[in-house]
Amino acid sequence: METVVSGIRSTGNLHLGNYFGALKNFIRMQHENNSFFFIADYHSLTTHPTPGDLHGGVKQVLAEYLACGLDPEVATLYLQSDVPEVAELYLLLNMNAYVGELERTTSFKDKVRKNPENVNAGLLTYPVLMAADIIIHNASKVPVGKDQEQNLEMARKFARRFNNMYKVEYFTEPQPYNFGEALIKIPGLDGTGKMGKSEGNGIFLVDDPKDIRKKVMRAVTDSGPTKMNSEMPEPIQNLFTLMDVVSEKNTIDFFKEKYGNCEIRYGDLKKQLAEDIINFTSPIRERIIDISANDEYLRKVANLGAEKARESASKTIKEARKIIGFKPF
Ligand code: TRP
Repeated sequence: METVVSGIRSTGNLHLGNYFGALKNFIRMQHENNSFFFIADYHSLTTHPTPGDLHGGVKQVLAEYLACGLDPEVATLYLQSDVPEVAELYLLLNMNAYVGELERTTSFKDKVRKNPENVNAGLLTYPVLMAADIIIHNASKVPVGKDQEQNLEMARKFARRFNNMYKVEYFTEPQPYNFGEALIKIPGLDGTGKMGKSEGNGIFLVDDPKDIRKKVMRAVTDSGPTKMNSEMPEPIQNLFTLMDVVSEKNTIDFFKEKYGNCEIRYGDLKKQLAEDIINFTSPIRERIIDISANDEYLRKVANLGAEKARESASKTIKEARKIIGFKPF
């Protein structure tokens, strides 16, 4: 069995793109691996949230992941800030992370460009903290998207460097977890590209039916096909891709046929799509609302996760300290 670790950003609500992307895979993975999923709340401090926003963001993602089916009895689900061993390993790894290599990472350079007024040391050492998150459990696999590949590469480098420095084979070099075919790209509603957070493009799991109808009805289309069986332009194809994940096969076939013989009415297609999305998201949304109102349950989940994560993390830290040479008198 592989040990898998993944961090979850604590800002922003989940949209359908997140759901059919990483999240569905997390839910499947939890049964096949020894999985650690945590909310990266230390990492979020790089952007200086207010105490209220910090807590609210963590609570929201936790509730949303639970509502989607992450099972705290199966996976280890915890808050990064509940595991002080992570912060200690971060300190230890920082001694062998070079400022030059950290300055050269693309995500750091991006952040500097976007926010030149807030180039803090936490941003610079973000990959070190991420490496600590992963190797604290000696994880072999990390499910990451394209944007995190360089950070994972650095985690391997820091693990290897530690091993070389102390002439041990202690830390595992973490490899990317390959989702293979399972990763579906969900398009946005604005015609091109994938679903994201931007206004008018994303449908969030917490959106109410009224919002969903409004967003879908506003989705970009064209003036309709004029030739029989013509190829679909991207905005139309996108609506069908959404249908593929939420609608019945005969519904999809019906509208495809209408498109093929130029009888399609986009208004009807959108109405159907909106209802099918609502049917899909409503039970999840209700669970999010229930869980968010249940602080006792959230506390239980967080405590259980912290306990399991610390058990694993403290073993690693104890061993790492010994290897480095910290010794009791
Ligand atoms: N950097 C990741 C992101 O922005 C979140 C993250 C933090 C993470 N620590 C991690 C992901 C460890 C995987 C493993 O999405």
